[in-house]
Amino acid sequence: MSWNFQEIEDTVQQEAKYILDFQRLEAFRTKYLGRKGLLQEIYASLSNLPHDQRPLVGKNANDLRNNISIIIETKQKEIKSRQAQSPAADIDITIPGVAAPVGHQHILTQTIDEICGIFAGLGFVVQEGPEIETEFNNFTALNIPVDHPSRDAFDTFYLELPDPGHQGRYQLLRSHTSPAQIRVMQKNQPPLAVIVPGRVYRPDAADASHSFMFHQIEGLLVNEDVKFSELKGLLTVFCRRLFGEKTKMRFRPHFFPFTEPSAEVDISCYICDGKGCSVCRRKGWLEIMGCGMVHPKVFLAAGYPEGKYKGLAFGLGVERITMLKYGIEDIRLFFENDIRFLEQF
Ligand code: PHE
Repeated sequence: MSWNFQEIEDTVQQEAKYILDFQRLEAFRTKYLGRKGLLQEIYASLSNLPHDQRPLVGKNANDLRNNISIIIETKQKEIKSRQAQSPAADIDITIPGVAAPVGHQHILTQTIDEICGIFAGLGFVVQEGPEIETEFNNFTALNIPVDHPSRDAFDTFYLELPDPGHQGRYQLLRSHTSPAQIRVMQKNQPPLAVIVPGRVYRPDAADASHSFMFHQIEGLLVNEDVKFSELKGLLTVFCRRLFGEKTKMRFRPHFFPFTEPSAEVDISCYICDGKGCSVCRRKGWLEIMGCGMVHPKVFLAAGYPEGKYKGLAFGLGVERITMLKYGIEDIRLFFENDIRFLEQF
């Protein structure tokens, strides 16, 4: 057995470069100086060598052992002093990191952005209103009579916050985004066109289609002359952009105290194309929003002169539209924060 000491020395030096912590240092020591290490092997081989070769190999082995001992001592000091400088210094920064999970927008935010984007493209300005509202803005100014059932505490969250403008009245969590109409008109003169997304609250027991908090998007356009046909044209364009060019849309007569005339908007069922299926409950149509021409009393309540302006308004439920668009069957999924659900969108 002959030993190439030069080669061993090179390997030792090479390996020494990568010793950055005590664990590797110990592995290095065992490999060379341990009981089953290379040095022991070399010394054991001496007895098999011809007599005249033994002194040289022995001397080389001793030199090698000394060099390795020096390396170990030096490395020990190095590692210790690095650890003393900073407790994190023995972290191996060459280990690949664990990538932090990258989040993305919630599906409801995506839908809100998409819908507002469509209306922004049609000239509407995106605005927001507060979630805590006055009874005046949420009901009275919208021509909702004092005895209307929606004013009942069973249908609206009242807060123990007195309403400074209206003696004896409490503020509330808005039950729809329509009070934003009043705020916008109090601050701006026509012509105006706004789109207002936001959260609304109703004390409903949570089930597959009800949540005590959900999102609406309100639209309002006011000018000296606005026609009902413009409302229909506008919403037809909107429905096609959101649900696809082939989508049919219809107005169904309805009643809202703050619009006259009023309508509910249906789109042809995207699943069965109007033939009737379980999603549209055999009707072929899906209800997606309420709309109408702004009631003259609403203009008065907002402080506009009588008879001067006309307007169109609409309000849609974001959860409902998202559920229809993506085939989601339970509204609670939006708010449970289950990553497996959220990651799909
Ligand atoms: N605010 C109504 C609702 O919550 C929707 C609506 C808005 C209807 C604007 C007409 C005009 O049901």
